[in-house]
Amino acid sequence: MPQPHLRTVVVLAAGEGKRMKSALPKVLHPLLGRTLLGHVLTAAAPLAADRTVVVVGHGAEQVRAHLTEIAPDATPVLQAQQLGTGHAVRIALEAVPDTSGTVVVINGDVPLLRAETVAALVAAHEGEGAAATVLAAEVPDPTGLGRIVRDAAGRLEQIVEERDATPAQRALREINAGIYAFDAVRLRDALGKLSTDNEQGEEYLTDVFGLLVSAGEPVGVHVAADHVETLGCNDRVELAGLRRLLRDRVNEAWMRTGVSILDPETTWIDVTATVERDAVIDQNTQLRGTTAVGAQAVVGPDVTLIDTVVGAAATVLRSHAVGAEVGPGASVGPYAYLRPAARLAEKSKVGTFVEVKNSEVGPGAKVPHLSYVGDATIGAKANIGAATIFVNYDGVNKHRTVVGEAAFIGCDTSLIAPVEVGAGAYVAAGSAISQDVPPGALGVTRAPQRSIEGWVARKRAGTVSAAAAERALAEGASADTPVAREGEAIHGGAETVGRPSATGDTATE
Ligand code: UD1
Ligand code: MG
Repeated sequence: MPQPHLRTVVVLAAGEGKRMKSALPKVLHPLLGRTLLGHVLTAAAPLAADRTVVVVGHGAEQVRAHLTEIAPDATPVLQAQQLGTGHAVRIALEAVPDTSGTVVVINGDVPLLRAETVAALVAAHEGEGAAATVLAAEVPDPTGLGRIVRDAAGRLEQIVEERDATPAQRALREINAGIYAFDAVRLRDALGKLSTDNEQGEEYLTDVFGLLVSAGEPVGVHVAADHVETLGCNDRVELAGLRRLLRDRVNEAWMRTGVSILDPETTWIDVTATVERDAVIDQNTQLRGTTAVGAQAVVGPDVTLIDTVVGAAATVLRSHAVGAEVGPGASVGPYAYLRPAARLAEKSKVGTFVEVKNSEVGPGAKVPHLSYVGDATIGAKANIGAATIFVNYDGVNKHRTVVGEAAFIGCDTSLIAPVEVGAGAYVAAGSAISQDVPPGALGVTRAPQRSIEGWVARKRAGTVSAAAAERALAEGASADTPVAREGEAIHGGAETVGRPSATGDTATE
């Protein structure tokens, strides 16, 4: 049985990425759910390396802070001056002086690299007992990249940077992807012999290959099945190109597991999000972060979900959600905004122009239109009428509102927290409720209505309203309507306004 190899992963992430023209170090730019560095570390993760060293330099503090979040076991090593990729690996190995076995080096800016490809490179390298193996690819446009130079027998001779290449070498389309496996001992030895005799005056890691070949050491080339994986990222145009390629890869993978994606070109699913079988993702939809969409759910068109869980068979239409939970069979939108800790239970409904934050909407409860629900607990089957506002903030503190099971809140109500509406209670439309409403009671704070007869004719004479009123009165339209004369009190208190037809929301379903 061969001994399992000790493995070290070195990620090169000290460069500035000048062409990104950004205050953010290049490797921290995001790409569908991870930073460029995060993608590379994820591709290396299945190698189960004993140690992962990340060479940091430009924006070192930012990169270190990011590593603490995403890869706390990785060791950042500072390369204060960027004297080349060879220099970077030399510094990395100085931080782990006892390293033996395989050292896998990955440029920090190749985010489409797949774990399977790194694993295949390492397997080929270890299987052949090579001193060094480079991942290569045939690319349509090799501009700016190092070329793989082979001898007549097809064996690797050297890797030449474009700037140092002869015209014949420049014509080669087989390039160095910037991903390598090395035998630690022979790598360390060769790194000690690198020169800076090149166009950039840098220590090139790629020169290790020429040195090893000259010393008669076995070196290998592992050709990537798909060159797309080896694409680097040097500016924002390339970053956008990589994002499209990754989008297509992610969408295709979900479609193959049984998810319908109606318009793949406008569907952007982070690599960290998940979608279950028979879910339908309609156009212009983004599933970001830890978003998880359940089986048979319908999401989109025009939906952005960030760190949001959508239950089975739920629907979310033209809406935005962050840190929310949409229960099975629940319905959201169009035009809803779910904020952190909005928890919609099974078969509940949050409809049009409704914002929900830090609230539970109970099973089968409905908030169909034009409402703000903040810091609330809404019981099962409660109905919240249009334009209800949960008044949760007194300018200093936030307070909770509790609406009991099957309570009925009439339209245009303010529930002024802290307050509780009991189970089965009704609140009359247009009320401002600041005291608890007992179960089964009607809460109402509405002022009595007065209709002042003839007001329009006196105060708005000559208007279209006055003319319309005059015609209507002439036709006797007001005959059955009780009206009050100016200054006269009018009947109609809680009993009249408490009729369901007067308190009801405007839902027509
Ligand atoms: C490098 C390769 C080239 C290959 C290409 C693939 C060398 C000399 N050339 O070129 O053959 O085709 O990658 O994309 O290696 N870095 C450091 N410290 C340094 C210099 C670079 O950490 O002193 C890091 C960068 O942050 C980057 C990676 O190393 O993540 C590669 O450096 P970069 O300058 O992009 O090298 P390329 O010119 O692209
Ligand atoms: Mg590069």
